[in-house]
Amino acid sequence: MISKEELEQILEKINVSAPAPADDTLRQYYFIKKSRSYVKELEEKLGRKPTCCVTTFGCQMNARDSEKLCGILEEAGYEITDSEEADFVIYNTCTVRDNANQRVYGRLGFLNSMKKKNPDKKIALCGCMMQENSVIEKIKKSYRFVDLIFGTHNIFKFPELLCAMFENDRMVIDIWQDTDKIVEDLPVERKYFYKSGINIMFGCNNFCSYCIVPYVRGRERSRNPRDIIREIENLVADGVVEIMLLGQNVNSYGKNLEEPMSFAQLLQEVEKIEGLKRIRFMTSHPKDLSDDLIEVMKNSKKICRHLHLPLQAGSSRILKQMNRRYTKEQYLELAEKIKREIPDISLTTDIIVGFPGETMEDIEETIDVIRRVKFDNAFTFIYSKRTGTPAAAMENQVPEEVVKEGFDRVLKTVQDTAREQVSRLQGQVLEALVEEQNEQDASLMTGRLSNNTIVHFPGDVSLIGKLVPVRLEECHGFYYTGSIANEN
Ligand code: SAH
Ligand code: SF4
Ligand code: F3S
Repeated sequence: MISKEELEQILEKINVSAPAPADDTLRQYYFIKKSRSYVKELEEKLGRKPTCCVTTFGCQMNARDSEKLCGILEEAGYEITDSEEADFVIYNTCTVRDNANQRVYGRLGFLNSMKKKNPDKKIALCGCMMQENSVIEKIKKSYRFVDLIFGTHNIFKFPELLCAMFENDRMVIDIWQDTDKIVEDLPVERKYFYKSGINIMFGCNNFCSYCIVPYVRGRERSRNPRDIIREIENLVADGVVEIMLLGQNVNSYGKNLEEPMSFAQLLQEVEKIEGLKRIRFMTSHPKDLSDDLIEVMKNSKKICRHLHLPLQAGSSRILKQMNRRYTKEQYLELAEKIKREIPDISLTTDIIVGFPGETMEDIEETIDVIRRVKFDNAFTFIYSKRTGTPAAAMENQVPEEVVKEGFDRVLKTVQDTAREQVSRLQGQVLEALVEEQNEQDASLMTGRLSNNTIVHFPGDVSLIGKLVPVRLEECHGFYYTGSIANEN
C-alpha cells in the first residue's frame, strides 16, 4: 500500500518516453502514469470522466484483489461506479464451484449487448476462473468481444496490462502458471473506510481432493511480517479500526519465511498496533490450529470472538477421502477445547454435501457434529465436480436425489442449532461495529458483534465506523434486532 501523495511524488519523476523500468514496483508506477494519457484521451472523446465497474465473485481474497484493481483504476483516471453500464467492466471471477462459472458466462452475454450500444466499452476478466485452460479456450471461441484477460498470479501487473489493452485492438491475454513474487506498495482503493482485509499469505498447499484453489492460486507463500505490520499501521492511520487477516490457511502462516514465524506470533505483533480495535482472520484449517493460537486468542483484547473452522464433513471415512487430515473425533476435540478455553467464542463452519461415495450414514455423522459443536452458522455447499482435482476422477459420484435429501437435512439441523446458539446472547449489551445503513429500512443501522453476529438497531449514518454498545433485544435466527444502550 502506498499513499496518494507518495505515489504522486514518485510519478512526477517518471519519464514515460523512456523504456519501462525492470523493478517490479517501479515498472507498474511507470504504467500507471502511462495509462493516464490513454484515459485522458478517452475522457476528451466522451466529454466526461470515463467510468469503471469491478464486479467481484468469490471469497474475501478476491474482494481484496478487487480493491487493488480499483486503486489502480482510480489512479489511471477512472471514476469507480457500481453499474455495469460503465465504460470499463472487470469481472474478478471465482471457480470454486461450477455455479460461480455459470454466473460469469450468463452475465457476459448481457455485457456484450451493452457493448454493442457503447463501442468504447471495454471488458476485462481476471481471477481464479482464468487460471483454467478450458475457460480461456471457451472465451477465445465464444466470447470474442472480451478485451483483456489475466489471472491471479500477475494481478500486480494490472497497470501494464491496462496500457496493453489500450494499445491493442485484439484480445490481450496474459496468464501465468504460478509465481513466487509478492509485489508490495501498489495503490489500493478500499470499499469501507473503517475496515479492511489484508493478505498475509497467498496460495494453498493442502490439496483437499475436491478443491481447485491450489491449482488456480498456486503454492503457499507468506508475506513478510514487517510488510504486514506496516500496511496495518498505515490503514489504522487512515481510519481503519477492524482488520481481517486473509489466507486460505492462516494457521500455516510463516512456514516458508526466511525467519519462520507462527500465525500466533504474528497475531501478537498485530495486537500491539495502537489504534487498531478489532482483529479477525480467515480461514483456519483445523489440522494446523495450534494451542498457542488458542492461548493468544484467549488473552487478546482485540482478536474477535469468532473462529471460522471448516468441517467439510463429519464422517472420518469421507474426511480421509477429502484429504483433510483430521478425523471426526479430532475435530470434536478441537472444537471442545476452543469452547472450553474461550467460552464466549462463536464457531462457524463450511460443509460440503455429496462428496463422491458419501452415504446417508456419512451425512448422519455430519449432522451429529453439527448438533454437538452447535455452530453459530454454517455454510453448506453441494459438492461440485472440479476438473483436474482427484475427487473429479472418483467413480462413485452421488446421485442428485441423495445429495438433495442430505443437503436439506444438514441445512435444517444447522438452522435449528444456530438459532438456539445465537439466541444465547438475548438481553445482553455488547459492542457492535456499525457497518452500514439497513438496506430495507433506512431508519436502522447494521452492526457486527465481535463474534460476527449481525444486529440491526435504530440509528443514523454518522455512526458508521464507530463501536457502540447495543442491547440485543430479539433474536431472529442468525441475527438480532436491538437498540443502542445507554453507557451509564
Ligand atoms: N481455504 C478454505 C476454503 C476456501 S473455499 C478452507 O480450507 O477452509 C471455501 C469453501 O468452499 C470450502 O470450505 C468448501 O466448503 C467449499 N468448496 C471448496 N471446493 C468445493 C467443491 N468442489 N464443491 C463444493 N464446495 C466446495
Ligand atoms: Fe481448498 Fe483445502 Fe486449500 Fe481450503 S485448505 S483452499 S479447501 S485445498
Ligand atoms: Fe473462489 Fe478463488 Fe476465492 S476460486 S473462493 S475466488 S480463491
